[in-house]
Amino acid sequence: MSDNMQKYRQKLSAFFDINNSFTFWKGRVALYAILKALGVGDGDEVILPGYTCVVEVNPIRYLGAKPVFIDIEPDTFNMNVDLLEEKITPNTKVIIAQHTYGYVCDMDRILEIANRKGVTVIEDCCLAFGSRYKGKLVGTFGKAAFFSSQWNKFYTTGIGGMAITSDDDIAAKMQSLQDSEMLKPSFKEVAMLAAQLAVYRTFIYPRTTALAQNFFRYLTKKGIVIGSSKSEEYAAAPAEPDFVKSMSSLQAGVGLRQLKKVEQNIAHRKKMASLYDQLLREKGWPVRTYDESIADPVMVRYPVRIAEKDKALATAVNAGIELGNWFDSPLHQVETDLANYGYTPGMCPQAEKAAREVVNLPLHPRANAKTVRRTVNFITQFNKA
Ligand SMILES: Cc1ncc(COP(=O)(O)O)c(C=O)c1O
Repeated sequence: MSDNMQKYRQKLSAFFDINNSFTFWKGRVALYAILKALGVGDGDEVILPGYTCVVEVNPIRYLGAKPVFIDIEPDTFNMNVDLLEEKITPNTKVIIAQHTYGYVCDMDRILEIANRKGVTVIEDCCLAFGSRYKGKLVGTFGKAAFFSSQWNKFYTTGIGGMAITSDDDIAAKMQSLQDSEMLKPSFKEVAMLAAQLAVYRTFIYPRTTALAQNFFRYLTKKGIVIGSSKSEEYAAAPAEPDFVKSMSSLQAGVGLRQLKKVEQNIAHRKKMASLYDQLLREKGWPVRTYDESIADPVMVRYPVRIAEKDKALATAVNAGIELGNWFDSPLHQVETDLANYGYTPGMCPQAEKAAREVVNLPLHPRANAKTVRRTVNFITQFNKA
């Protein structure tokens, strides 16, 4: 293991005050490793919100298990816990508590139901690095948790994934998986990622993001750059032979530098999110609603519901406004054939409504107070949902 990797794993463990951390090529690989360590396989069911990224569903399918989708509650976009018990069957092996946009799930209730039913809970913290529930960091409640450091996340290593667990048995299984099954990213992949990170650091600012993203997607389709997803991942029977890959030392080095700035990043995101609250409220728009006595969210992006999502997204590019479209489908991206994933339209009505209405606004370290003002002025020209 490289020096960078060892240090990165140690720093992650220290941040979460947990004894086991792992690193992967992407967040979805971290999920795959956790599910495999938990023994998830043929015929097992995994419950997760029907408001997620399809690449999160694929590891479940790669292992032969069945995704079972649960609807969300409209304020926090997290699973509606009132519906959880009825989704649990004798085949349910795992519940994935996804903390969406940074809002935290109701962990007490989820764990109470899961413990009573003998089901394991893991946490998807890809969108909630640093968020706290009842004062404790999310990621430390379930048997294990996973994170992503892909472009749009709390911090970026280009692409990247991490997992943590306090369960030494699961950790031993994950370590043996890492030692025996994980492929190493190729020299070419790492070199391309290094070049992309350099471009990102130099050119990508809120005004240029939308244009850059379109160009980046085009290059990814052509296979010229390392995209976070291949188009095959949205297909009927996704197969990713090189799926199980470890993190490169390059990513670990970038991650280490980002971890040094973690408190600054958290403070910045909280400050910008409060500014969105204030400016949107002044314009008569709804703002974040969550239970402040239990939740201390660190938002990855600021979600807003508007009636004219498509129009806003189309106009934003030329206006130099950085609007996110996720999730644009119960299983993002919209080109996914939901039927292949066992998702039937109408299954999660609140998630489908959110997919039609929600755009998300930037909070990353390069988005400053001016970005927030411009973004609010832009978005409030449209009709709110
Ligand atoms: C909620 C959620 N979980 C998991 C993932 C997968 O992370 P990665 O792209 O690093 O594989 C994503 C992807 O963006 C996500 O939004």
